[in-house]
Amino acid sequence: MKLIRTGAEWNPLWLNHLQKKQQIGLVPTMGALHDGHLDLVIKSKATADLTVVSIFVNPTQFNNPEDFAKYPITLEADLQKLADERVDYVFLPSVETMYPAPTRLRFDFGDLERKLEGKFRPGHFNGVGVVVSKLFHLIRPQVAFFGQKDLQQVGIIKRLVNDLSFELKLEIVPTRREPDGLAMSSRNMRLSPIERKKAILLFTSLEKAKTELFAGKNWLEIQTQIKADFGNEPFANLEYFELVNPETFESYSQFDRYQKSFICVASYIGDTRLIDN
Ligand code: PAF
Repeated sequence: MKLIRTGAEWNPLWLNHLQKKQQIGLVPTMGALHDGHLDLVIKSKATADLTVVSIFVNPTQFNNPEDFAKYPITLEADLQKLADERVDYVFLPSVETMYPAPTRLRFDFGDLERKLEGKFRPGHFNGVGVVVSKLFHLIRPQVAFFGQKDLQQVGIIKRLVNDLSFELKLEIVPTRREPDGLAMSSRNMRLSPIERKKAILLFTSLEKAKTELFAGKNWLEIQTQIKADFGNEPFANLEYFELVNPETFESYSQFDRYQKSFICVASYIGDTRLIDN
C-alpha cells in the first residue's frame, strides 16, 4: 500500500495505470474508518483493478466549527485497516494541497440545497461539491464509491457528476449497521456509553414508521407520534423526520407504496448529530 500526498506524486502512477488500461476505483473518506467504509473498499476492490482511498477531513464542509474541531482522527488505525484490505493507494493530502488558495467558486444545488441536510447545515453541500470535484480531478477514477447512509450527499454527487460531465460511474453501497441497528458512522465514536444506547432511537423510529406505513397508517400521524417519541427522550434533539422522494428530497405528506420513498432522520444525541434513512 503506497501513501501519496499530492497530485504531482500521483500523476506518473496514474499514467502508468492508464497505459496498462487498469480501472481506478476511488473511495473518498474523512478517515475514522469503520466497517461501513470498509464495505466501500471491498466493493471497489471487487469492481476496479486498483483502489485509491482518500482520507481528508475537509474543513469547508463543516458548517459548525465545533463539529470540525471534534471530528475523530484515527490515522494510524485507519492505515492498518486499509493495509489489511490490501488497498493499493491512500491519498492523504494536506489542507494546502487541497486548498492552495481559498475557493471562490460556489455550488448551488438548487432545490436539494434547501431541504433536510441542506437546510440544517447551510454551506455543507457546497463544501462537499468542491472537495469531491477536486478529488475527482486529482485522482481521475473511473468509478467512485459512496455510502447510502448519506443519502442526500449521494443526490448531490449524482447531480455534480451529471451537470459537470465527470466521466465516471458512481456506486452506492448500502448502510452498514451495528448489531442493534445503529447505522455505522465515524461520529458514533463521540457518543458516551449512555448516549450510545439512546442513539438506537434513530433506527427504531425508522423501523416503527416503516412498519406502520405498510400497515396502512397515515404518514402525518406517524410523523407526529415519532416527533413526540423524540421529544420525550431528553438525550435527543430531533431536526427532521421526513418521508421524501429520494431524487428531489421533496417531503411527501402521504405514503404511496408504488412510488419510491425514503424516510430520512437527523437528530442530535447529546452533542453529536446523527443521520439515518
Ligand atoms: O462522506 C464523507 O465522508 C465526505 O462527505 C466526503 C464524501 C469524503 C467528502 O469529504
